Amino acid sequence: MVKSAYIHIPFCKSKCKYCSFISSVLLDLKEAYLSALIEEINCFYKGEKLDTIYFGGGTPSVLNSEDFSRLLNLFNYDNETEITIEVNPDNLNLDYMKDLKSIGINRVSIGCQTFDDNILKLIGRRHNSKQVYDAVSFSNNAGFTNISLDFIYGLPSQTIEGFESDLKKAISLKVPHISLYGLKIEPGSYFYLNTPKSLPDEDMQADMYLKALDILKEFNHYEISNFGLVSRHNINYWNNNHYYGFGLSAHGYVDGIRYSNSVDLDFYIKYPKRHYCEHLLSMQEKLEEEIFLGFRKIKGINIQNINKRFNIDFEQKYEKVLSKYKDYFEKSQNYYALNTSGILVSNVILSEFLE
Ligand SMILES: C[S@@+](CC[C@H](N)C(=O)[O-])C[C@H]1O[C@@H](n2cnc3c(N)ncnc32)[C@H](O)[C@@H]1O
Ligand code: SF4
Repeated sequence: MVKSAYIHIPFCKSKCKYCSFISSVLLDLKEAYLSALIEEINCFYKGEKLDTIYFGGGTPSVLNSEDFSRLLNLFNYDNETEITIEVNPDNLNLDYMKDLKSIGINRVSIGCQTFDDNILKLIGRRHNSKQVYDAVSFSNNAGFTNISLDFIYGLPSQTIEGFESDLKKAISLKVPHISLYGLKIEPGSYFYLNTPKSLPDEDMQADMYLKALDILKEFNHYEISNFGLVSRHNINYWNNNHYYGFGLSAHGYVDGIRYSNSVDLDFYIKYPKRHYCEHLLSMQEKLEEEIFLGFRKIKGINIQNINKRFNIDFEQKYEKVLSKYKDYFEKSQNYYALNTSGILVSNVILSEFLE
């Protein structure tokens, strides 16, 4: 049964230099895109009562509250449904946040990235640090209690002290949730072709992460990058449950089939009901995904559950990799989890679980 839906809003006023997410600055296409999105949702959504709805981007906050109402009206949800919107601090005001609250949106994820105004300029963000403080205060005053701040560490010119100061400022804002992402420079971003000189290296990124674990120790560290009040939408994903993905470049997992949509905006607008790719997962692929996603959770993998679900003996099947990296795992009664050293090299370790 599908209980979650992700909806991609692929528009941004300008492109940040580090970003390779699928988004367009052609805001004139917004109406055509919304029509296509509605067509896709009407075609594939089977009317299940949803526990979570997530508007991600791009910059969902380029839409107005009427646009969100049109989309939300397509779904079966109630007051208990967690409805998240990603917002950019440069285009918010109190009335807008009140409008979002009044139509049922109850979780806000604010893209802060850093409080350092020089770095914000260097990475092509449209806002300054004051606008992040304003964004939090508009959200609070509009009645949102579930607020998250996104940060990137390993940014050009960033120091450990600078990152530490970012986190302390975040704590002082009393937001219940913080996400931390190590900077990745991927094809499609400006920085991929124009790599900045002053980039912290991998070791320094690791030191920044360790510093964050110390500074955020009062927060519930529930997933590698996430701290605080658990996002039900994201935990559903890491629990390897089904979810819809609607919109340009969106991915979904329904009836055992992983699917993804086109990344070409014109194509999507013309053919919103055509999945770009669909793949029915084999039992082995399901197991590997369960392991991959499960080890992202700090609690780790419930061995009894995985053994039952896949009819395996997890410790026996993966004895080789578990013993090779034994110093990187922690085992409690029912769970296997990566420890802090394991998290730092999780990509290497997890790749060894693949057949
Ligand atoms: C999908 S983006 C959209 C959020 C929103 N558009 C914004 O920029 O504020 C969600 C988050 O991913 C993170 N992110 C984006 N590109 C990244 C990159 N290249 N490396 C690390 N984190 C990145 C940022 O923290 C961003 O807030
Ligand atoms: S980081 Fe956010 S605002 Fe910047 S280009 Fe990417 S999606 Fe758009």
